[in-house]
Amino acid sequence: MSFSPLFTGSPTPQDKDLATLSNYLDARTTHIDLDWAIDWEKKIIGGSATVTLEATKDVGEVVLDTSYLDVQGVEVDGAKAEYSLDERIAGMGSALHVTLPKSVKSGQHVAIKVSYWTTPECTAVGWLEPVQTKSGKYPYLYSQSQAIHARSLLPCQDTPAIKATYAAKVRSVLPVLLSGLRQSPKPEEKWVPGKEVEYVYDQPVAIPSYLIAIASGELVYRPFKQLEGRKWRSGAWTEPLMMDEAYWEFSEDTARFVAAAEDYTSEYRFGVYDILFLPESFPYGGMENACLTFATPTVIAHDRSSVDLAAHEIAHSWFGNGIGCASWSHFWLNEGWTTYLERLCMRKIYGEPARQLSYTVGRKGLKEDLALNKDKTRFQRMVVEYNAHEDPDEAYNQVPYEKGSNFLLHLERTVGGLDHFLPYMKDYDRTFSGTSITTGQWRSHLFHFFGNQPNGQEYLRALGKVDWDEWLHGAGPDLCVDMQYDDTLSKPCADLAEKWNAARDDAQLSKFSPKDIESFITAQKLVFLDNLEALRFYRVALKSGKEYAEDAAEWVTNKGRMKFCRPIYRLLNQQTPELARKTFLKHAAFYHPIARKMIAKDLGVEV
Ligand code: BES
Ligand code: ZN
Repeated sequence: MSFSPLFTGSPTPQDKDLATLSNYLDARTTHIDLDWAIDWEKKIIGGSATVTLEATKDVGEVVLDTSYLDVQGVEVDGAKAEYSLDERIAGMGSALHVTLPKSVKSGQHVAIKVSYWTTPECTAVGWLEPVQTKSGKYPYLYSQSQAIHARSLLPCQDTPAIKATYAAKVRSVLPVLLSGLRQSPKPEEKWVPGKEVEYVYDQPVAIPSYLIAIASGELVYRPFKQLEGRKWRSGAWTEPLMMDEAYWEFSEDTARFVAAAEDYTSEYRFGVYDILFLPESFPYGGMENACLTFATPTVIAHDRSSVDLAAHEIAHSWFGNGIGCASWSHFWLNEGWTTYLERLCMRKIYGEPARQLSYTVGRKGLKEDLALNKDKTRFQRMVVEYNAHEDPDEAYNQVPYEKGSNFLLHLERTVGGLDHFLPYMKDYDRTFSGTSITTGQWRSHLFHFFGNQPNGQEYLRALGKVDWDEWLHGAGPDLCVDMQYDDTLSKPCADLAEKWNAARDDAQLSKFSPKDIESFITAQKLVFLDNLEALRFYRVALKSGKEYAEDAAEWVTNKGRMKFCRPIYRLLNQQTPELARKTFLKHAAFYHPIARKMIAKDLGVEV
């Protein structure tokens, strides 16, 4: 079951996914079999995808999402079948209509095998030349399917409402990683350059299409130390030259975060939790692909200051990958709950003041992000009202993360604190895990849970005072409640930064010493640096003039994470549009297709 039948709430127009062309309400995918080869010369992936669906009403046609796929043939239950590809709709791709030879009755299954190859226009996969890798010896590829790019990798019902298991066989001359459990060869096995190997994977837990992921390149594995009493295994995948650093950075905390998240919720369901550290062009900080988080190498900071990224992606195993959203309008259920649990994990390991510090930092991030996107007020709402065929990537911002996690913190405080809220969170996980739900279902369960406690009336009275409409549907550059956080950890950083910013002459400057930050935890040092405006060098420099434009342009050519490169390109474009465009066009191939499209749009150029 993908949609939860429980706690229907009041259905809204946002519950239907407008970003899929598939007829996912008529039949739902239960399993996908992939039989692929990688053509490194042509930079394409292909073979076949067999999509097994269960009819949820009597159907005569199945419509799948595709985008820039070269479809060569379709079979239905083993026999050649009629199909047609619609004209492309920008952002959405081309609907693939498969006529079923005879109507499939509700409850029956049908297997649709599509033979195809991806094309060079594929928006999910970034391809790197050997020179763009650490050793410079081999090419590299990696995918990013969220939000709606899976359809450019395989024909599917590309919606978070549908969850399916998958199995895959991929032939490649370089090691292949997928978001599942490796069946063969063993992760530790040495590979022989130039020899084609078939990599076999299985994903026995039903997941949405956006968690299907692939990477291939010169990749090696090192397991993290296993925690006693826990069933899952965890480890790191990187290019050989990055392994020592990546391992040092994440080996201590990763397993502890998985264990902490388990203690707050339920057993980890995916068996393996590995992290793949990608090349610089990876467009996000992290991506919670099932069994295998993809991470930007910029989190390897040599001070373990970005380990909260692991806590975040791990938390998705319950929120997003466990309980999913029924459409991208309800995306805050993924990111808001994940951020909430991520910060609880920080609490378990570093204490409540560290959790509060994360909220302080996140709140600042929200304000900065929305200041950059003032015009897009429609996307400042937690529940986003999408237009038909609108690409969810356009709405991406900090709102689902920060408004979402603050809303949950506000509810935690409203019901009387963690002692009251944590049992509810466990029940929420237990009730909906493995399904996709709407905000209405979430809310209806919340009221049901608290209303049924011995002091239910008291809880309901408190919850009745929450401004539900403003939280869920209000726009605005900040939260609708002025949330206060414990400033035990943030105050000393802000105070010290203020002294630095105020210091003007040598006498004042010579008063500072390393002792000032001796007691700081890493997160505090970051907050301190962040408060020192001058150190956010290029952003500040570009706001005030052209002097550092050349340096900034040079800096941005190997920064693929959109959070870093998009603001720099935008500011460059304001100061020296020509340089911005020239730099981007020269290095366009470095960026992942998603980043390439976004920067091109920001700069008003075509690639
Ligand atoms: N799932 C997101 C990344 C994402 C969201 C990709 C929407 C495409 C569309 C991931 O879990 C995430 O939130 N990553 C953050 C890092 C995190 C530490 C907050 C990022 O990339 O900045
Ligand atoms: Zn996330």
